Order: sequence, then C-alpha cells, then structure tokens
Amino acid sequence: MKLDNETKCKVHIRWMDDADLPEVLAIEADSFETECPIFSDPGEEEWRPVMGFYDYEVSSHGRVRSMDRQRITPHPRNAKVQHVRSLRGCLLTPTPDKNGYLEVTLRRNGTSVKRKVAHLVLEVFVGPRPGGAQACHFPDKTVSSNCVSNLRWGNAKDNRRDQDIHKTSPVGERHWNARLSQEQVDKIRRRLLRGDRQVDIAADMCVRPQVINHIAKGRTWAVAYARPGTPWREEEFIRCLEQPSCKGMVAEHEDRVVGFMIYELNKTQIQVLNFATAADCFRKGVGAQMLSKLIRKLSAKRRTEITVKICETNLPAQLFFRDAGFRVVSILRDEYDETPEDAYLMRYRFRPKQTGHQTLPPKELAR
Ligand SMILES: CC(C)(COP(=O)(O)OP(=O)(O)OC[C@H]1O[C@@H](n2cnc3c(N)ncnc32)[C@H](O)[C@@H]1OP(=O)(O)O)[C@@H](O)C(=O)NCCC(=O)NCCS
Repeated sequence: MKLDNETKCKVHIRWMDDADLPEVLAIEADSFETECPIFSDPGEEEWRPVMGFYDYEVSSHGRVRSMDRQRITPHPRNAKVQHVRSLRGCLLTPTPDKNGYLEVTLRRNGTSVKRKVAHLVLEVFVGPRPGGAQACHFPDKTVSSNCVSNLRWGNAKDNRRDQDIHKTSPVGERHWNARLSQEQVDKIRRRLLRGDRQVDIAADMCVRPQVINHIAKGRTWAVAYARPGTPWREEEFIRCLEQPSCKGMVAEHEDRVVGFMIYELNKTQIQVLNFATAADCFRKGVGAQMLSKLIRKLSAKRRTEITVKICETNLPAQLFFRDAGFRVVSILRDEYDETPEDAYLMRYRFRPKQTGHQTLPPKELAR
C-alpha cells in the first residue's frame, strides 16, 4: 500500500500537557507493538526516451519499451534498393544477469547493446553516471526492483551500507562461515537475557566466547525490524517534562492526538528523546509535519543541529529521518540496557544559506 498526497493528514501541532498523557502513552505502547512496513512509492509511471537509443523509452517504474519505427535495410539481391520495414513498438522482456540485475538488449545502427535497466532509469531520471558509481537499490533490496524511487547512484561503500541495513550482507546464517543456526542464536539470546555467563553459553554451544559476545552486542545475527526496546512509562514522561530544558509537542487531527515528540533543548543543539505517531497514521505525513516544526526552531546563531539516536534495527525510523535530511554521524555501542543492539546517532544540520522555508526537509521543499 502506498499513500498519495491526498491521503496525508494535516495536523495541528501544539505543546503537550498533562491531559494528553493517556493518549500519548497509548501511542507509545502501540509503536512498540506494531510492525511498520517498509515500502517505496513508485508514483505515476512516466516514460522518457533512452539516452542515445531514441527508438526506446524507459519508464520511472523500470520498464523499457521500443517505439513504432522503420528499419531500412539493403535489398538482399540489389544493394541499390532499400527495404523499409515497419516495426511495431513493444514492451521489452528483461533478462537477469548472473547477479540477478535485469538487462535489456537495445539495437542501434545494426548493432545490439546490452544495458542494465537500473542504469537506464538512473541516466534518464536522475542524471549521468558519476565516475565509478554503481546503481544502489534502496529501500527495496530486490535488485530487479528498478523504480526510480528505489534507485540512486552510489559507490561500493553505499551499497555495503544498504546491505547492512537490509541484512543482506553476509551475516548470520548467510555467512559462509556460520556455525550456528537462527534457532540456536534465539536460544543464546534468551540465555543472555536471563543473565547466563557468556563463557558458559559458549561451552554449551561449542563455540568461542567471542562468538557469543558478538551476538550479545548485536554485531552478528542482527534481528528483524520493529521498534526495539521497551515503551517509556508514565513516570518517565512526567520526569522528563518537568525538566525546564525538555519540551513536548503533540500533533492533533480531528480532536485526537495522533503523534507526540519529546525533545531537549541544549545550548547549541536539540536532541529528540522520544517520538512516535499513532500506528493507524503511519506514513500519513504526521511525523514529517512535527519534524518540520522542530527544524524551524534551528537558527544560525543559536541551535544549529538536531540529533536523534535510532536503534540499528529500527529501519522505518532510519528511513524517516534520512528522508528529512538527517545523516548517520556515529554508531553508539551498547547504547541500550534492554537490548544488545547498537544505536545510530543521526544529525540534521542547519544550512545557513537556506533560511526561511528552505530549512524544511528536502522532500517538503519538493512538495
Ligand atoms: C518513525 C515515525 C515517527 C515516522 O512517522 P510517520 O508519520 O509514519 O512518517 P511520515 O508519514 O511523515 O513519513 C515521511 C517520510 O519518511 C519516510 N518514511 C516514513 N516511514 C517509512 C517507512 N515505513 N518506510 C519507508 N519510508 C518511510 C518516507 O519517505 C515518508 O515520505 P512519503 O510517505 O511521502 O514517501 C513512525 O514510523 C513511528 O512512530 N515509528 C515508531 C516510533 C519510532 O520508531 N520512533 C523513532 C525513535 S525516537
């Protein structure tokens, strides 16, 4: 499912007060229980001519078609006479190369050229291929998913980072050297949570203690995407909001609270401490509107950046913040008590030349 702009919900944002707490607590609890799907928007299909092969068109959905055209060939017996053949355009059927990347064969001046569909889409809708760049598929890792919204030019490092986020990098059972199965790892996790010593678990499982240590730290055998950890309790919200430097905002839609954000104002930066939207309002623009409001609080003279810590397996939140212009600046090891996963520190920086409405996230500007 994909929501278009008409289904986005316009919210009213105001300060949070005590009366909002029951609704905020319900959203907080729900946000840990609801799995947030990842999807990218193919948008409306748009066809454009393929660069250098003007008998063909490529679409923003990653399809390639040939156009109605005439092919002129010399007559087989009389070279002075030319044969004109009318060819009807049709949709090309791509074939996967040895790595699964879809390719099509295009003809020009009697010669055939094999081209990767992802490259055609990027060249036409994004721009020429920068030197040494590769086509990166994100957020849908399927290499045959060639929608323009799922593609970007990147380098090998970007591709590896995407693989890490998608968990398609050779970790866990996918690793050529994996000694354990997912089932055994789940068992190890349960024992770690019970507080069993890592050396004892290693001895029982016949592996080196380091293997157990890496599992405990979440460096190997990473788990599925859902908001990890435990929800804040009422006391935590109250304690936080009592601090003069902490602020809470809520987003209201039709007299109902559909999102909240708690943040801390430091001397030169703002730190987002907790942030969620109601599960039935995911992907309706509620989060983006709250974040825009926060971004507008930045200024060149005072607070110049916003930071947020996101658990490494919380892919929806990473994509949300990335979409808003945040970038990962560091990895925080052993950040959480309740889960062994690391956190990404993501940061948004005030851009001095882009003042006023231009401080909004790039996507907001495009809308
Ligand atoms: C993260 C969260 C706040 C995002 O709020 P939201 O209201 O669903 O997000 P928006 O609808 O404003 O999304 C804005 C953009 O972010 C990106 N995005 C958001 N959720 C996404 C998802 N699940 N998959 C892919 N992209 C996503 C999209 O680019 C989206 O724009 P688009 O819908 O026009 O393509 C929400 O998913 C949530 O409450 N998650 C649980 C709580 C949490 O993890 N909080 C973060 C830790 S503090």
